[in-house]
Amino acid sequence: MKAGRFPLARPRRNRVDDFTRRLVAETSLGINNLIWPIFFTEGTNTVTEVASMPGVHRVTLDRLAGHVEHAAKLGIPALALFPVTPAEVKDAEGTEALNPDNLMCRAARLLKKEFPHLGLIGDVALDPYTSHGHDGVIRDGYVHNDDSVAILTRQTVNQAAAGIDIIAPSDMMDGRISTMRTALDENGMVNTRIMSYAAKYASVFYGPFRDALGSGDKLKGDKKTYQMDPANSDEAMREVEMDIAEGADMVMVKPGMPYLDIVQRVKETFSVPTYVYQVSGEYAMLMAAIRNGWLDHERAVMESLLAFRRAGANGILTYFAVEAAERIRQTYGQ
Ligand code: PBG
Repeated sequence: MKAGRFPLARPRRNRVDDFTRRLVAETSLGINNLIWPIFFTEGTNTVTEVASMPGVHRVTLDRLAGHVEHAAKLGIPALALFPVTPAEVKDAEGTEALNPDNLMCRAARLLKKEFPHLGLIGDVALDPYTSHGHDGVIRDGYVHNDDSVAILTRQTVNQAAAGIDIIAPSDMMDGRISTMRTALDENGMVNTRIMSYAAKYASVFYGPFRDALGSGDKLKGDKKTYQMDPANSDEAMREVEMDIAEGADMVMVKPGMPYLDIVQRVKETFSVPTYVYQVSGEYAMLMAAIRNGWLDHERAVMESLLAFRRAGANGILTYFAVEAAERIRQTYGQ
């Protein structure tokens, strides 16, 4: 065999230098692909770090605009809003969810005023408001589907009226997208979008989020009667299909990194705008390794996010959104 003649096909040629690698790259991560989840609380002048999510903070409303300003300047298209409701206003029915002056609505009004071009995504579920920590209401020891949907639908209109642009139901009740779409339309909110948490799994990886919200220690039992079994993939396709048929504009898969197969299948099957949530436990795992010096910070974060794009996600809800946007800016100057 003559030197230089074997092998004829050399895939490594396309990896030989940076410009070629960039030319042949099949996917990319841009600032437009990032959604930043944020936590806010009552009170004044306080910023607290979530213990299990180093680098993630809960801020009081008076600090919210300052907290968000940098993300807005970086051009992150949208925020996902999560209120930390005080224990005193929680009850078994999640009544506070319907209060037009609840923390969520006040935050939405404030942000819309300060940053009119920043998209606001409102999580619709009752867990920030219920004393038992479930996403719906309980009848005879069971999270009741239809009674929960009725309340969640009113919560939807309440949030949209406060300025939420995209309603994101994370409750996993059956049939809620159709009632929410109908209620929005009847209230003249025809352009309020719905990003459904269509395939949301009953996952251990939400633990740190529940710490952030203060709902974790309150949760009675688990959410397995409404969130999906991690064993299932076909079922995710049925959930997504139903939500699209009921009027969802965008769909989400959650969690992210252990569910890339679901992201890929959803995108390939339905070709709809598809989002993925890199959840709190994924953030906590990465940060733990990064803080220990076991993983390189920048590379671990950027590789995890690029993988979502390769799987087919249009966008990623990630607690790393701001630092990822900064790194994208630095690299491409965009
Ligand atoms: C509420 C909700 C949860 C998350 C987003 N919306 C928690 C849950 O379902 O228990 C989790 C987000 C995260 O872990 O980062 N329904």
